[in-house]
Amino acid sequence: MSVKNNKKNRGYKSAAKPGGRSGVRMNKGKQNKPAEKAPKPVKKPKTKKPQSGESSEYSQIIQWYPGHMTKTRRRMEKDIKLVDAVAEIIDARIPISSRNPDIAKLTEGRPRIVLLNKCDMADPRATDRWVTHLTRENVRAIPVDCKSGRGVNRFVPVLTELLSDRIESLKAKGMVNPSMRVMIVGIPNVGKSTFINRVAGKSKAVSADRPGVTRGNQWFTVSKGFEMLDTPGVLWPKFDDRTVGEHLAFTGAIKSDVMDTELLAIRLLELLCPLATPEFIERYKLTEDDLTLPGHELLAVIARRRGMLISGGEPDTERAAYALLDEFRDAKLGRITLEQP
Ligand code: G4P
Repeated sequence: MSVKNNKKNRGYKSAAKPGGRSGVRMNKGKQNKPAEKAPKPVKKPKTKKPQSGESSEYSQIIQWYPGHMTKTRRRMEKDIKLVDAVAEIIDARIPISSRNPDIAKLTEGRPRIVLLNKCDMADPRATDRWVTHLTRENVRAIPVDCKSGRGVNRFVPVLTELLSDRIESLKAKGMVNPSMRVMIVGIPNVGKSTFINRVAGKSKAVSADRPGVTRGNQWFTVSKGFEMLDTPGVLWPKFDDRTVGEHLAFTGAIKSDVMDTELLAIRLLELLCPLATPEFIERYKLTEDDLTLPGHELLAVIARRRGMLISGGEPDTERAAYALLDEFRDAKLGRITLEQP
């Protein structure tokens, strides 16, 4: 059974997509006008549409989540009681914004591993710095690329080391071959399902017939003595500050459709210019002077260079904004880490 399918049935994916698929442009101007019928009275929307502006966009996102947060949090709180360790997946490009600050409380002091996923898209030097930083904070951190599988084989050895005291103490109490259980947690789209599918491989789902497991939880044998809950715990990101919201939108963790795409692209350009990766410069044929332009001017330059024009020859900055965000998410602008330790 694929975790992806399993997850879809539970609706996690749709819950993560308040605005629909990223990169899909809304046809704002088009309206269906009935030819002969009298126009229906326009219903007032129940919720107030946010005015354009950053604070209203962020409050719109925040308003979208509470229902799901409560439900998934409750489920996670139950599931976490069943496991010996928790592996938290974060995005190596944004290790701060993709880390839910509630995790420590939710995991109730259980041993934890942090997996810095999508490291194929992050700056390798920054990923090394993050591993050093987390290690200094006494957190076991492993950089992984779940898409190719790189680094994933370190998971079981690190888990074994992390739980060695617990395994030894259970053995000392007379338990033969104690089985350790682990749960994967992380914010939506961080790669939880990809990781579980990779680690579980072809192993069969073992039906859970154990005390305390009442909701048909499925467990995979990851390795001899280790089982993993097939359902990842979904933590919602925190949107306390603008930077966190923006970084989550840049990487596609939340859908940019709920924000002003051009504004988002301008903010991304302001971060990309100082980094000046060769891929970014080459792709948009940027000069040194271009890199000093304010974000909104640079977006117009990029639109023109790409031949993205609207009638009258003006640059189509909206189209350029979508292209920039898509290309950043596909790592076409280089391996970039937006947050440093
Ligand atoms: P989730 O369960 O946490 O919600 O995340 P999921 O595994 O569904 O992964 C979200 C997206 O991130 C998927 O792409 C997946 O392929 C991609 N992904 C996961 N791990 C890595 C990684 O280490 N590197 C890279 N580059 N991508 C990764 P998608 O476009 O939504 O789906 P798909 O077209 O790849 O199937």
